[in-house]
Amino acid sequence: MAATPSATLPSAFFPCPGFPESCRSLNWRTHKKQLGRKAGTVKVRAKFELNHPPYPMNALEPHMSRTTFEYHWGKHHRAYVDNLNKQIVGTELDELTLEDIILITYNRGDLLPPFNNAAQAWNHQFFWESMKPGGGGNPSGELLVLINRDFGSFEAFVKEFKAAAATQFGSGWAWLAYKANRLDVGNASNPHPSDEDKKLVIVKTPNAVNPLVWDYSPLLTIDVWEHAYHLDFRSRRTDYISIFMEKLVSWEAVSSRLEAAKAQVAEREKEEMNKREEEEEYQAEVREMYVESTDSDAE
Ligand SMILES: [Fe+2]
Repeated sequence: MAATPSATLPSAFFPCPGFPESCRSLNWRTHKKQLGRKAGTVKVRAKFELNHPPYPMNALEPHMSRTTFEYHWGKHHRAYVDNLNKQIVGTELDELTLEDIILITYNRGDLLPPFNNAAQAWNHQFFWESMKPGGGGNPSGELLVLINRDFGSFEAFVKEFKAAAATQFGSGWAWLAYKANRLDVGNASNPHPSDEDKKLVIVKTPNAVNPLVWDYSPLLTIDVWEHAYHLDFRSRRTDYISIFMEKLVSWEAVSSRLEAAKAQVAEREKEEMNKREEEEEYQAEVREMYVESTDSDAE
């Protein structure tokens, strides 16, 4: 396996950005004590576990079949988790959270080997939690306000989201995400973002990539890998996307993720403001000491 970068994470990193239910469900890392062959030696290894979707396998029928779940969750999702565990055991990644592993192995777009399995494990858990029995309908509250502000209307949002999912070439994902800074300029940051800078965006990603790697907060996703829909819809991806939007989306989950993402952004801004104030106080003290020093020299 390629050498991994230092486990020093960017200051902006946060372990469970924007979705408390995923934080709970993604707390997959369990520490299992494994007795070594020699008496008295104990080896502690971390291990990610495959969580069951938050509803029974047949709960989304007739829109998503039990057969699809048994194949998609039971084989594909399981394989991502199992393969990740094999790849990271004994490496520097072994003790990190899944989100840490995704960010580090994304490696600014030059992917390290465990990235695909780590991101796919995360994406699928997030996907299961994006749906619910009796889903679909319309969003409400602040989520709807922001959708109307950033896309013009709910209908316009649905049209754009469906188009992103339908036009993702090959395997991948479509996402609604909360972007805390509107700037798209590399290596630039808006020092004082306003509420207008914090907006909803639709993005599509190839293969395993997800918006965490750009520091966006994912709110909703649809899996458009063929394995997600071919048992129920054959090659009719657009029919699958329509059913997802009309019958499966959990807008409650999306709203709660938005709330958590906003709280996370506010916390980060507060920390950054405190740092700026501390730095300004320090600089003022240095200036004061310098003035006092030059005054005493002049006497
Ligand atoms: Fe999938």
